[in-house]
Amino acid sequence: MSMDVEQIRRDFPILQETVYGRPLTYLDNAATTQLPIAVLDALQNHYRYCNANPHRGIYALGAKATALRESARAEIGAFINARNPCEIVLCSGTTDAINLVAASFGDAFLKPGDEIIVSAMEHHSNWVPWQMLCRRQGARLKVIPLDDQGDLCLDRFTELLCDKTRLVAVTQVSNVLGTVNPLETIIKLAHQRDIPVLVDGAQSIRHEIIDVQQLGCDFFCFSGHKVLAPAGIGVLYAKEDVLRQLQPTRFGGGMMAKVDRQQAVAEDLPHTFEAGTPNCAGAVALAAALRYLNSLGRDAVQRAEQDLTNYCCARLSTIADLHILGQPQHRAGVISFNVNSLHPYDIATLLDKLGIAVRSGQHCAQPLFGELGLSGAVRVSPAFYNTRAEIDNLVDSLSRVIALLRHQESKP
Ligand code: ALA
Repeated sequence: MSMDVEQIRRDFPILQETVYGRPLTYLDNAATTQLPIAVLDALQNHYRYCNANPHRGIYALGAKATALRESARAEIGAFINARNPCEIVLCSGTTDAINLVAASFGDAFLKPGDEIIVSAMEHHSNWVPWQMLCRRQGARLKVIPLDDQGDLCLDRFTELLCDKTRLVAVTQVSNVLGTVNPLETIIKLAHQRDIPVLVDGAQSIRHEIIDVQQLGCDFFCFSGHKVLAPAGIGVLYAKEDVLRQLQPTRFGGGMMAKVDRQQAVAEDLPHTFEAGTPNCAGAVALAAALRYLNSLGRDAVQRAEQDLTNYCCARLSTIADLHILGQPQHRAGVISFNVNSLHPYDIATLLDKLGIAVRSGQHCAQPLFGELGLSGAVRVSPAFYNTRAEIDNLVDSLSRVIALLRHQESKP
């Protein structure tokens, strides 16, 4: 199925906005995606007609909210092909999901001298929780290095795996290099030693077609706002048998079956891990977002984003003194670059004045920039609702910006 991008753009009201009198060219989809009308409507409808605290009141509205939340959970589970909706813990986002695993799995199973493996391309959400956990437990954080292309060194990964390894936590797609990691190989190598694998799907959830059963990962985490839903809703998927071995680390309403002065007995999965009033509207909106994406066709979305990414790389490569970070074997949706002697902030600030939104800086991935010996980069991340004309606008505007900054540089 091919997509009618102009038709699709009409589904996203924000794309019709202007910035400084120019049409908005939004190319920061790795940071957050925009919401289609179907999702905005789902949010509004929920608060207008269905708002109540789920899993609590027995009145009709309460039952409706409960049913909507649970059917959203089932749809979210189906989207990543989870075996059972009880494997879907709804939380606030990728960061929350990874912190949940670090606190629950990590504190229970990690001993002094144990090791956790991450990769050099992780963003802070899949780095700092493990770093802090290792510090708490006297364990060690091991890092899979990158090769010159920006791919993971699998030979080094094999060498790092050992009897002390308790968990491997890797991203599926780098939020800086765009590298798509060979998860099948990583998971197979880890599982040969019975080591569980957590996949950070923050960047991959929109681009890739995720099948957690086929992947075989033990944990998969993603945020709603990276996949057309609002911020504040996210998912921790974990295999049911893995989840059953974990203890909750947060306690409160909605997750307890019985509490008295002597004891507190937790509810069954997945509510065990969902203490407090949940973001029901967020879950409903996330389900609507995934439905919308399905209606476009996942293959078509992937093809459109791949085409824009390839086109953007090719066009950026024609600019003198511009260096794209990494040349990974597979790149999805993210292109970071620097221009000799120019500061990424200056470039992004001037592009903004021309209506173009791109991110600049270290993209919450400072360990990676440390490895690369760079202080930052400009990042372009197209989504399926972007057009080749917008990429042309970016490249033409960039040439103007570079010329302007070079002119400033040449002044005594
Ligand atoms: N992780 C998000 C990004 O890459 C915030 O921009």
